[in-house]
Amino acid sequence: MPNPERSAPNHSRDSGSLTTSLTSRRTVIRQLALAGALVGIPWRRALAEPAVFPERELLQTNPDRFWSRLRSEQFLVPEWRSFLNPASLGVMPRPVLKAVVDSLTRGAEYATDDVQRWGYETLDPERTEMADFLGCRKDELAFTHNCTEAMSTIANGLDLRPGDEVLLTNQEHGSGIASWKLKAARYGTTVREVEIPVTPKQPEELTDPLISAIGPRTRVLSFSGITSPTGLILPVRQICQAAREKGVITVLDGAHMDGQVSVNLHDLGCDYFTGSPHKWLFAPPGCGLLYGRGDGLDRLWPLCVSSGWDNKESLRSARFMMIGTNNRSTIDGMIAGVRFLKELGEEVVYQRMHHLARLVMKEAQRRSYLELVTPDDSRFFQAMVSIRFKSDKLDALWPALKEGKVNVIGGQRSRLSLHIHTRPSDIKKFFQVCDRVLAG
Ligand SMILES: Cc1ncc(COP(=O)(O)O)c(C=O)c1O
Repeated sequence: MPNPERSAPNHSRDSGSLTTSLTSRRTVIRQLALAGALVGIPWRRALAEPAVFPERELLQTNPDRFWSRLRSEQFLVPEWRSFLNPASLGVMPRPVLKAVVDSLTRGAEYATDDVQRWGYETLDPERTEMADFLGCRKDELAFTHNCTEAMSTIANGLDLRPGDEVLLTNQEHGSGIASWKLKAARYGTTVREVEIPVTPKQPEELTDPLISAIGPRTRVLSFSGITSPTGLILPVRQICQAAREKGVITVLDGAHMDGQVSVNLHDLGCDYFTGSPHKWLFAPPGCGLLYGRGDGLDRLWPLCVSSGWDNKESLRSARFMMIGTNNRSTIDGMIAGVRFLKELGEEVVYQRMHHLARLVMKEAQRRSYLELVTPDDSRFFQAMVSIRFKSDKLDALWPALKEGKVNVIGGQRSRLSLHIHTRPSDIKKFFQVCDRVLAG
């Protein structure tokens, strides 16, 4: 199967048995405790712990200690795992997992007359909370199962005529391409990819090619706010504004935005937005966001429907959530993820992620067997860093990383993504393995 992230084959799959060679005695003990906790009753107790964060003063006096305690106290990722790929699928902290388990438990118990579910509900409180977080209104927002579904809903749902053109960048994820290709195959629209640099020096190098590519048939410009292959941040606001001035609809694939960077949809000015809170926003797998500016969603045909599909008057964007019975625990977990982030403090989290990304950059710059793809300019990256190996010995690298329990995605060009559960030692370990296999 082709890799939808397009950069390279995925070498980050988890391996089977535990290797203890790289772990200290202390971590082995932790590991056993965790394994025990996961098979017996105690894990329920662990999940029941309230989210008490380490003392805030530590953030000033010893930030690494703060984050390493947060990792071991709030996440289940074992000590021996160096997880450098939340950009593919993120990690739920304990309060999120607890919200999911509690939600499923409520359903299993049937202790109340009405079991909460989703698929026929408007979920107003949840959408209001998420809309506040994203800087939009509840009636502009719907929940989906992932970003792919949201992209497909937009592409399928827009009324376009044969010959109408959709512009994409040449760095889109498979889900941001296939949705428009399907539209083209079925309705005779066209799709054109515009090349943008992976290592720009100025934002205009990204804005200009896209805006100047707009032609008389162009109706839609669909692009990622942060690209999947290399984590490049695009100047979203400028692109959306320039496209609007030319009468072109903007579709912002924000799979890497919510939870990685601060998002204010009204401020960004896109017509449509799609999100993937299960990447950076701590949500359980199976969560997506669909946004349409103003009455944007009123103008879309829904993809999957039940009663209420045409009730624009009172349901507004919730029309897109009348899709049949679903797993409500994912929604409860997603909201717990937003609260977890807000309780920690958005800025504190974003700063930490960027600090870690800068560490990666510094380490990468010291190695002659690789080069940085990500520009050394904070306007263009947040918590994802891409490198290109010059070496041809990569066949030995992936098994070595796997054995070291280092999860990273890539091939000749690789991408490291960092989150608050990433430790500086995880980054060091990645480079140590690379040095061992590739240096000299
Ligand atoms: C830019 C981009 N868009 C869309 C997707 C698809 O996201 P999901 O798996 O949540 O559907 C991804 C996944 O990696 C992505 O990187």
